[in-house]
Amino acid sequence: MNKVSQEIMGLLGISLGLDQAYFKDFFEQNDSILRLNHYPPCQKPELTLGTGPHTDPTSLTILHQDQVGGLQVFADEKWHSVAPIPGAFVVNVGDTFMALTNGFYKSCLHRAVVNTETVRKSLAFFLCPKLERPVTPAAGLVNAENPRKYPDFTWAALLKFTQNHYRADMKTLVAFSKWVQEQESNNKLIP
Ligand code: OGA
Ligand code: NI
Repeated sequence: MNKVSQEIMGLLGISLGLDQAYFKDFFEQNDSILRLNHYPPCQKPELTLGTGPHTDPTSLTILHQDQVGGLQVFADEKWHSVAPIPGAFVVNVGDTFMALTNGFYKSCLHRAVVNTETVRKSLAFFLCPKLERPVTPAAGLVNAENPRKYPDFTWAALLKFTQNHYRADMKTLVAFSKWVQEQESNNKLIP
């Protein structure tokens, strides 16, 4: 998974006019996460969601889903089912990569729905920066037309924010940016 994500990072760098090595180097050392999701069948699937609408706070997600189906992405004002393709991964951009690219890449809003019949399982690899490494956008992506959108932060701080203060949804990065700025101004008040 590390290798696949490094290759994708090389391509994403090129797509932004950066050196191929730029994001590869950034993520060469990383504190990534692997998660197994298990969605039991549900008697009233219309009343519940396996995973509510959210963007992943991480950088890049490589998801393997089984053949049951349930993943949906929000695009063009509606939810679209992402049909499982045997042998294929679903790849999506997360909030930390959105910050690293100063908003050029957008994190993708998605959710998972459940059904009455079958258990569904998915396996998600979340590429994340080293916990304490500053997340700051590439210099080439900040200029007069594209001013800084998010403050510098660490993955450790965003992880803590989503685990202790805020449940990841579609506005995580905006809420987190505000929280970071508040913390900074509070610190300035303490002599
Ligand atoms: C997640 C996620 C979707 C799925 O783990 O962040 O969005 O299909 N999972 O399980
Ligand atoms: Ni997700």
